[in-house]
Amino acid sequence: MAEYSLIPVAVPPVKTKNRTICTALPVPESLEIFKNLDGSEPRSMRGQPPIVWDHAEGSTVADRWGNRWIDWSSGVLITNIGHGHPKIVAALRAVLDKPLLATYVFVHEDRAKLTKMLADLAPRPNDYRVFLLSSGTEATENCIKLAKTYALEKYGPERKYFISFDNAFHGRTMGSQLAGGNPRLKKWLAGENAFFAQVPFPDGYKNQDTSFDLFLKTLKEKGIKPNQIAGVMSESYQGVGPDFMPKDYAKKLEAFCRENDIVLIMDEVQAGFGRTGKMFCFEHYGIQPDLIACGKGISSSLALSAVIGRKDIMDIYAPGSMTSTHSASPLAAAAAIVNLQGLQEEKLVERAAKLGVWFNQELERIQKKYPSVLGCFQGLGLVAGIQAVKAGTRTPDPDLAVRINVKCFHKGLLMFAPVGVAGECVKIAPPLSIPEDALRESLKVFEEAVDEVMAEG
Ligand SMILES: Cc1ncc(COP(=O)(O)O)c(C=O)c1O
Repeated sequence: MAEYSLIPVAVPPVKTKNRTICTALPVPESLEIFKNLDGSEPRSMRGQPPIVWDHAEGSTVADRWGNRWIDWSSGVLITNIGHGHPKIVAALRAVLDKPLLATYVFVHEDRAKLTKMLADLAPRPNDYRVFLLSSGTEATENCIKLAKTYALEKYGPERKYFISFDNAFHGRTMGSQLAGGNPRLKKWLAGENAFFAQVPFPDGYKNQDTSFDLFLKTLKEKGIKPNQIAGVMSESYQGVGPDFMPKDYAKKLEAFCRENDIVLIMDEVQAGFGRTGKMFCFEHYGIQPDLIACGKGISSSLALSAVIGRKDIMDIYAPGSMTSTHSASPLAAAAAIVNLQGLQEEKLVERAAKLGVWFNQELERIQKKYPSVLGCFQGLGLVAGIQAVKAGTRTPDPDLAVRINVKCFHKGLLMFAPVGVAGECVKIAPPLSIPEDALRESLKVFEEAVDEVMAEG
């Protein structure tokens, strides 16, 4: 992960309708806050551009010293509807005024409303049920548990394998990390992953063999038979790219799971709720997962996640045995209801699809100016990524990615720190509601930043 310098540098002032940069960066007065955090938090919480968020509205993030950035982060792909949406704020106020702040598994009306709304988004609404949780990792973790329990109860202990993909990210708790595909992140789990196996992801750049035969071949090499597999989980697009499966691959994966009664799980924590121009990214592939893990954009704000899944699998656990203290937490549920309504009323899913067409063409044009060091562009809807590489190779160049990121930050365009297998991917994810003039302005800023970094050599 990038370490950003905390030494303020003078940067050219910026004043437009959408951006203001009026101080050195990081803001000298903010350094005290970073210093205090160092005294109270683990260093794992560092690693983002050194801004202190004060308020965020629509597609703008501001500090309290007068600086304002156009946001290409959406937090971390959370605020699909935009930051601080007035209807979400109003809905939260209404819950605060009741007040109703914690309910455990006692019923409240919004829980019934939200689970119904989410079930209605499933491939076959009547056949699906919804379990609400708080974080994305809990949702993927719950999917693993459900798949393994289904397999155990129906077929016995031989169905013990759980399959996921190289470079996958499903969260940071134990099960989701076991299913993750970045060995660096799971060193702490050494020896505990005997029944979790990863196969190459067919992204076409890091792995150029995109045939489903490679999936089958890899399982064979690992000595895993289809009738030993409980579940297969994949992000609908891998966050490291964003990397997408070929449609044909996804269809073959679905058929393989159906033929062998393997639970097919799509992790939509990042990809869901309109980000790619469909409500769920798996819709691009024309498949119907058995379990769908949701998070982030589900509420565009407060901590909420969900598993939307086939009724027969979701109903395995008896009353009281699959719950969580903050399941359907009233504030988070209220935010999610208004968020889902807003995505529909403001046609933000369609908007992401439409804006994404020219936006991604433009981003690709910028990448193609420097193909030897900006090795790969991927994008769909309003999520995109450019992978920085050592000149003329496919070897990640995280330093170059950070330099582009910092240059944008200095110009009033905010992205979270580069992601990817080695931090080489400049990831782009504005709120789906970003006004067109702000999107065009931010694209210009991005091109200027890339050009300047390239000119600096
Ligand atoms: C695809 C995917 N799955 C799961 C998670 C974990 O979500 P959370 O950080 O809310 O636990 C993330 C978070 O980045 C993600 O991108």
